Amino acid sequence: MEIKQNYNLIKLNTFGISVNAKFFVELNSEKDLAELFSLPEFKDNKKIFLGGGSNVLFTKDFDGIVVLNKLKGMEITKEDAENVLIKAMGGELWHDLVIYAVNKGYWGIENLSLIPGTVGAAPMQNIGAYGAELKDTLFNVEAFEIETGEKKTFTKEECELDYRDSIFKNKAKGKYFISAVTLKLSIMPKPNISYKILSEYLEKTRRTATLKNISDAVAEIRKSKLPDPKIIGNAGSFFKNVFIGETKLRELQKNYPNILHFEEEGIIKIPAGWLIEQCEWKGKRVGNVGVHDKQALVLINYGGATGAEIIELANKIITSVKEKFGLELMPEVNIV
Ligand code: EPU
Repeated sequence: MEIKQNYNLIKLNTFGISVNAKFFVELNSEKDLAELFSLPEFKDNKKIFLGGGSNVLFTKDFDGIVVLNKLKGMEITKEDAENVLIKAMGGELWHDLVIYAVNKGYWGIENLSLIPGTVGAAPMQNIGAYGAELKDTLFNVEAFEIETGEKKTFTKEECELDYRDSIFKNKAKGKYFISAVTLKLSIMPKPNISYKILSEYLEKTRRTATLKNISDAVAEIRKSKLPDPKIIGNAGSFFKNVFIGETKLRELQKNYPNILHFEEEGIIKIPAGWLIEQCEWKGKRVGNVGVHDKQALVLINYGGATGAEIIELANKIITSVKEKFGLELMPEVNIV
């Protein structure tokens, strides 16, 4: 295990922001972890664990140690007539796990196709898309407590998963290193095409809701709306969607009778992308940064941007939405 100094992170965050970390180390096995925890560079410094770097915005050089999770492996740990348990190590790419499951005929994560990032990062913010979220299939999470080096298994309930949220972003923030995730997938077909955009797309392309077709359709929709971070720097949705109650909706409808909203389990979702579009930010460019022209939730680094420029744009958007609708946008991305 080699600890590097003054290490540039531009290739390790999908926003493509150029900052340096005081220390950097790649973690390739759980064995390395025990060694790492005892090193002064680790013990005496601030730390960040990175997976795919697809949900982080660096605003300045990081005065601490960045640990890149490269733990690999996927295996079926249990199987019965109805379900399988699949354990995947944290450094695996999330989409590779989806492909593995789809190829084997296991249902449950096909709607989460092509989400960037790693398996270990998935529970952090309970990744979700197209009517599914990690919470629907998560079985447990293995994590090492940083202070003691002890391995702990969190049941799904203990992960306190919520919309783009978990215990690892709140109470347990910075306290654990997620090493592996186990999912419970279904051998029985369980197509979930509740998300209107997905069902309409399948219909339009005349495809039935098979496992492979759903996965392909989600991948195609994502590719058409979301910029490829290999080509253009971004971290997917920069903001969370906004959830309000009936009273607030009725109040808003007085001024905005056509306000886009979706009812989900008794609460009302206002798509943040719609709000941003109404404030005329969609497709706008300001210097090196901008708002994606096909999905206003996505902020873009056209090249050479600093994290501070992205933050400045984000703040302007937050202010516009607040002034027009009285609603507060919250960043979804982790700002470091
Ligand atoms: N919309 C607009 N204008 C826009 C963008 C969206 O009017 O610029 C409208 C769409 O027409 C649609 C609604 O808003 O009626 C919802 O749009 P979309 O299906 O694209 O989803 P979203 O709510 O904007 C969320 C997730 C995405 C995920 C999609 C699909 C969050 C913060 N984002 O976006 O996740 O892919 O649903 O399920 O919840 C991510 O987290 O990085 C991410 C990309």
